[in-house]
Amino acid sequence: MTQSRDADTSSVATHLQCRSCGDTYDLDTTRFPCASCGGILDPQYDYDAVDIGREAWENRSGSMWTYRELLPIRDEDAVVTMGEGQTPLVDCPGLAEEMGVERLLIKDEGQNPTNTFKDRGQSAAISAANEQGAETVALPSAGNAGQSASAYAARAGMDCHVFLNHQAGDVKKDLVRAHGAELHLVDGKIPHAGAAFNEARDDADWYSVATFQTPFRHEGKKTMGFEIFEQLDWSTPDHVVYPTGGGVGLVGIWKAYEELRRLDWLDDPSPPKMDVAQSEETAPVVRAIETGATEHSPWERPESIAHGVEIPDPGASPWILDIVAESGGSGAAVHDTRAIDAAIDAARKEGVEMCVTSAVALAGAMKLAERGDLSEDDEVVIINTGAGVKSAGQLGRAVC
Ligand SMILES: Cc1ncc(COP(=O)(O)O)c(C=O)c1O
Ligand SMILES: [Zn+2]
Repeated sequence: MTQSRDADTSSVATHLQCRSCGDTYDLDTTRFPCASCGGILDPQYDYDAVDIGREAWENRSGSMWTYRELLPIRDEDAVVTMGEGQTPLVDCPGLAEEMGVERLLIKDEGQNPTNTFKDRGQSAAISAANEQGAETVALPSAGNAGQSASAYAARAGMDCHVFLNHQAGDVKKDLVRAHGAELHLVDGKIPHAGAAFNEARDDADWYSVATFQTPFRHEGKKTMGFEIFEQLDWSTPDHVVYPTGGGVGLVGIWKAYEELRRLDWLDDPSPPKMDVAQSEETAPVVRAIETGATEHSPWERPESIAHGVEIPDPGASPWILDIVAESGGSGAAVHDTRAIDAAIDAARKEGVEMCVTSAVALAGAMKLAERGDLSEDDEVVIINTGAGVKSAGQLGRAVC
């Protein structure tokens, strides 16, 4: 079914489509994922209805809502924003030299309202919840998404339930509570928090803002891609290295690339190679890349200190693996100690503060370089998904 658009909106979103069975849903649907098959719902757009050029985006500033035409919120008054997005792409010549590449850029997502890229996803998901009249939102999380959701829910005047496993860092637990959300602490790992959330949600009238249940988090994260391409004067870098847990941001950045190509807005439309970085202690997607599988098999004993990528069973792996194959990217799994070393390296050589999870991407890029997968004329973008303050204790212990 195709949703007709309001006359006074700039969004050209039309409907949601299931990635697995192709069923379509109204943008107003509030139960996710796909009711027929459990697949991921992906917002669709009428690209021919985009009635601006890319200069209009260049002339706007303020937040990720710069890209509102290609975001799925039709009522602009429903948007819940704190200026998320528009983060710098920081040139890192010292690290580039160490890696032997032409240029290394860090997209510094630590500079978002709650210090991670999760704010883009939650701004989009909670704006959709707001547009649809939801009163209570809920999700399971490794920590950062929960902190972000509780902040945006507070701003929207909604109740929020966050399911974290005990190992989540104190900063995240404390701030979830500070925002007034209800914190449910669960024994075990992130899948246990997910199971507790799903069970509780069955009996409650909660609007889900969980990874790939909501169709809107990868849409919000898509704006990282728009910004990277705009910041590089509408060219594509050779590589984007991404610290991959559920893969929401990787999928989003690739979707941005595809949309810009479709709009013919890229001066250099050659695809960026999308590289998956994971911890050796939890690397289901890298293992699938290495074995040529089209889907991951769940990781038996997830144990990484990089909690954001300690995801043993990422449901979107077929989508992630398609993107890696189509873009010509690859995968690198690194030991946790290499991630810590990479975070310290970024802090000392470039002044850039990275949390341990995002440093998995920097360490992964270093491994790709050692392996010869990056060449001396490559321009490489690393996504610093979260600020160093999120791992202050871990980094402090490493340098004592
Ligand atoms: C700092 C950080 N980086 C990366 C990730 C993984 O994100 P994605 O689901 O987009 O793979 C997370 C998820 O919790 C995170 O907190
Ligand atoms: Zn389906």
